Amino acid sequence: MQTKVLMVCLGNICRSPLAEGILKSKTDSDKVFVDSAGTAGYHIGNNPDIRSIAVANKYGIDISGQRCRKFSYSDFAQFDIIYAMDLNNYHDIIAMTNDKNEIEKVKLLLAEVSTPLTEVPDPYYGGEDGFEKVYKLIDQACSMIAKKLG
Ligand code: 4NP
Repeated sequence: MQTKVLMVCLGNICRSPLAEGILKSKTDSDKVFVDSAGTAGYHIGNNPDIRSIAVANKYGIDISGQRCRKFSYSDFAQFDIIYAMDLNNYHDIIAMTNDKNEIEKVKLLLAEVSTPLTEVPDPYYGGEDGFEKVYKLIDQACSMIAKKLG
C-alpha cells in the first residue's frame, strides 16, 4: 500500500518544498507519495524560494519544478500523514479538522527526531545559513520517516 504524506509550512516556498524533495529522494514513489502545501496563499503558483532551491541543489536534490499551493480541507481525505513544520502551521491545520481521524493525521515534523527543537524555524526573513540549518533538520526527520515507511 502506498502511504501519502503531505508536508506543510506557512508559505510553501521555503521549508515544505525542501521536505517534499528530501523525502521523495529517500523513498520509493511506489510506496510513498509526497506533496507539500502552505497554510497561507501568498505565493500560490510560485516556484520555491531561490535559497531553498540552492540548498537542495547543494545536496543533489532538484526542487525547482515545484509549484506552491494552499493547504485545503480536501487534503485530510487525500493524505495519510500531514506533517507541520512549526506550531503555528500545526494549530492552523488542527483548526480545520472535523473529527478524530483528521486530528490524528497531523503531526509535527520534528516529533520524528530526537532534538530539543520542536519546530523547523521559518528561514524566510533570515540569511543563507538559516536554509542550511533548516535543510539539516528536515533531512534528519525525513531519514526517520523513510526508515518507517520503507
Ligand atoms: P515557508 O516560509 O513557510 O517555509 O515557506 C515563508 C515563506 C513566505 C512567507 C513566510 C514564510 N511570507 O510571509 O511571504
